[in-house]
Amino acid sequence: MQTEPIRTENKHPRVMQLVQQELENVVQPPKNGRLPPGPLGLPLIGHLHMLGELPHRPLRRLAKKYGPIMSIRLGSIPTMVVSSPEWAELFLKTHDTVFASRPKLQVADCISYGQKNMGMAEYELLSSSKIQSFMPTRREELFNFVKSMKIASDSQSMIDVGAKTQSLVEQMAFRMIFGFKDGRFNFMSSIQELLELGGAFNVGDYIPWLKALDIQGLVRRMKACSKVIDGFLETIIDEHVQDTKELQGQHMDFVHVMLSLMESNNTRELHLDRDHIKAIMIDILAAAMDTSSTAIEWVIAELLKHPRVMKLVQEELENIVGLERLVEETDLNNLSYLKMVVMESMRIHPVAPLLIPHESIEDITINGYFIPKKSRVLINTWAIGRDPNVWSSNAEEFYPERFIGTSINVQGHDFQFLPFGSGRRMCPGLQLGMTVVQLVLAQLVHCFHLELPNGMSPDDLDMTERFGLTLPRANQPIALVSTYNVNL
Ligand code: HEM
Repeated sequence: MQTEPIRTENKHPRVMQLVQQELENVVQPPKNGRLPPGPLGLPLIGHLHMLGELPHRPLRRLAKKYGPIMSIRLGSIPTMVVSSPEWAELFLKTHDTVFASRPKLQVADCISYGQKNMGMAEYELLSSSKIQSFMPTRREELFNFVKSMKIASDSQSMIDVGAKTQSLVEQMAFRMIFGFKDGRFNFMSSIQELLELGGAFNVGDYIPWLKALDIQGLVRRMKACSKVIDGFLETIIDEHVQDTKELQGQHMDFVHVMLSLMESNNTRELHLDRDHIKAIMIDILAAAMDTSSTAIEWVIAELLKHPRVMKLVQEELENIVGLERLVEETDLNNLSYLKMVVMESMRIHPVAPLLIPHESIEDITINGYFIPKKSRVLINTWAIGRDPNVWSSNAEEFYPERFIGTSINVQGHDFQFLPFGSGRRMCPGLQLGMTVVQLVLAQLVHCFHLELPNGMSPDDLDMTERFGLTLPRANQPIALVSTYNVNL
């Protein structure tokens, strides 16, 4: 029987060329030296198949075999995985200038108005004095939160404490940035959708020749979503333009501040236009919303799991604040045990377990290992935070007292503990984030007894992690709440 000849005609020469280049990269050693050790990858996808939904976990397993500096390939992107405090210091301090860039992700282009978001303006907005000026707003929102929790606790209902605190944090962020609560535009659900799309794994970011095809449809959906949000933001800016001049520094929210910066500073080093303002608004909202509430959620879960620690936190609050009033931000400095509890929770449940990817701007050789330009860098703070060589044999245990007598803090100088990163790209919202997390927790635990529902034992509390833009728990902590003996 006659068979059809196999047709070898190459209909897509460009694709074929890229595939060949890719294969050459896999088999050829780098020209300028030895890459850090790492497992063998597959053609085209490299090590993408090894990462799964919670990449910090398999990356820790691999680092145990290949060491604290490991090289892998995500699609065609050379990627360095750092898993020890010493190597974290080399990347984030010693050679910070080389690694202070961020990779350009395809979807970020749609959200961030061509990546106009980063820059000095964020630091200006998140300065100590600006954060201070929003103290009354936080106080008011916190008071409303306590009132609504009390109503729910009076009716003996089960409360989804995680959801309640999340909405509190969202309202605080919203008022600080825009000056009003969510509800006018149904903005929050659009932002949530945008964040989910932004956090989704986009094949085009790793296998560049698939970029233009947008096979998952992420870019298309993202464009549609950001168009809706752009409409909201335009309206908000227009409204703010009208009253920025009249306010003259009084009760200015972030949009007012940015508009006045745009007016006064545009000829100097800080250039801001309307797109910058919109990009920064989205950026700060996204960074403020999920991070603080995820951190709070983990602390609540750990407190429910460790009644001993809960009792000690409440005793500290009774001693420092007393039972006659609510917690004030000015109390936070004196609540040293609460601070250790928050730090301990951030150690084992970092909100960004691999930080946000950094990218190198030039070739560099560190301790004999060659790291090519445009390598992506993942700092596995989750693995470092649980390393028994760094934190002693009880590294996996929740034990806040481990910080007693140490000078370790969240400022990014202690490379075994980097919940906010370190160096040039460190979180500019550290002060705000820590204030909100400690304040909300202090108020919650001071005013209410939280108990697990249906006689559930603390040992049965589910601490599974869920994939997301940050690292949240799989299940929100639902608790039975009763009023504590504070006079409300
Ligand atoms: C508990 C709360 C928070 C935690 C744990 C946290 C953690 C982090 C981490 C780990 C990074 C990446 C650092 C790196 O890649 O080296 C980061 C970046 C960032 N955070 Fe936060 N953050 C929190 C709250 C906030 C808040 C409240 C804001 C703003 C209102 C904020 C704004 C930002 C911004 C703009 C960046 C990007 C900085 C850059 O790329 O230069 N964060 N944050």
